Amino acid sequence: MGIEQLKNGGGRSAPGRSSAGAATMRAAVQRRYGPPSVLESSEIGLPLPGRGDVLVQVGAAAVHPGDYFVMTGEPYLVRLAFGLRRPRLGIPGRDLAGVVAAVGKDVTALRPGDEVFGWSTTGTLAEYACVPAGNLVSVPANLSIVSAAAVPTSAMTALQALRKIANVQPGQTVLVTGSSGGVGSFAIQIAKALGAEVTGVCSTHNVDLVRSLGADHVVDYTRTDFTRTEKRYDVILDNVEAQPLAVVRRALTPTGTLIPNSGRGGRWLGPLGRNIKARVLSGFTRQRLKPFLSVETHQDLLTLAEMLATGQVKPVIDRTYPLAEAADALRYVAAGHTRGKVVVTI
Ligand SMILES: NC(=O)c1ccc[n+]([C@@H]2O[C@H](COP(=O)([O-])OP(=O)(O)OC[C@H]3O[C@@H](n4cnc5c(N)ncnc54)[C@H](OP(=O)(O)O)[C@@H]3O)[C@@H](O)[C@H]2O)c1
Repeated sequence: MGIEQLKNGGGRSAPGRSSAGAATMRAAVQRRYGPPSVLESSEIGLPLPGRGDVLVQVGAAAVHPGDYFVMTGEPYLVRLAFGLRRPRLGIPGRDLAGVVAAVGKDVTALRPGDEVFGWSTTGTLAEYACVPAGNLVSVPANLSIVSAAAVPTSAMTALQALRKIANVQPGQTVLVTGSSGGVGSFAIQIAKALGAEVTGVCSTHNVDLVRSLGADHVVDYTRTDFTRTEKRYDVILDNVEAQPLAVVRRALTPTGTLIPNSGRGGRWLGPLGRNIKARVLSGFTRQRLKPFLSVETHQDLLTLAEMLATGQVKPVIDRTYPLAEAADALRYVAAGHTRGKVVVTI
């Protein structure tokens, strides 16, 4: 289907039409920052792909804590990027999987009908999303659209933390807190794939899940405090930061790497103050304290697609919600007890 057809409302999945005759789509829209109740189910204009873009008919879109921060506009720091007074985007969501509906003139790698997954910077809780072609790769044959949608942000964060920031080597010991959550469930599997000896920290009812992901050891945090055992780790990916940096460092080897990765913090700056402190402290110790911000790349998405295709990594889906209940999906994510990923189906 060509773009011109889409403009005229044509195509396999025939988008709706406004009273003026323009092609429209259903989307979860926010006109102001606030709690999930700010989301309205609205009929809005269909985005049109530019030369290098792909119009994706969204099949599923995962949501994660970062989407909640952006929707609420808190910490306020996020408003510098997403709109000072009101959200510039209007449609929440970053991760998506679906089917190519149309491609721009310069796109040669993808064609209408291809199943793709990746990330959009213009919102994904909608029937269609317009995405630069470089943000997408093909869905591996062994993966459903819902599972593919669960991957981009969380798995890429885990991959970059372990491979790029910590440079995990075979035989190293890696501890992951929040190992039952979105980032953690991928981190356990990726650390195993990198050849590490992996320990997951989780609550009692998630012990079996984390073990099933391949963890060599599981610490139930309701019974054991990993910072108070004799065990020392080469790498700690701390997705929860339930304890101060100084305490978590006790469980690190003298030259180990600690990645504080919880996005939580104060109302204005979020984790920024804590992260600056970690970086400064890092200059005074042989331990590496490395907070970081994940940045999606096509190459890392290809690496993940490969790991998914070979079965080294399998997304864990906690719950799915229909688009009309996107607000409930974000409420659930905000509660912080997700087991794997939460996906909105469209
Ligand atoms: N650096 C980056 O660029 C980047 C990118 C993406 C995400 N993040 C951050 O990464 C963090 C994790 O994200 P996520 O999507 O994985 O969150 P999530 O899906 O909400 O998972 C959090 C998990 O932690 C578990 N948990 C809670 N308290 C715990 C404790 N004391 N010890 C161990 N586990 C505990 C929860 O289960 P129970 O409550 O049942 O134990 C839940 O399974 C977030 O703060 C997010 O902002 C950072």
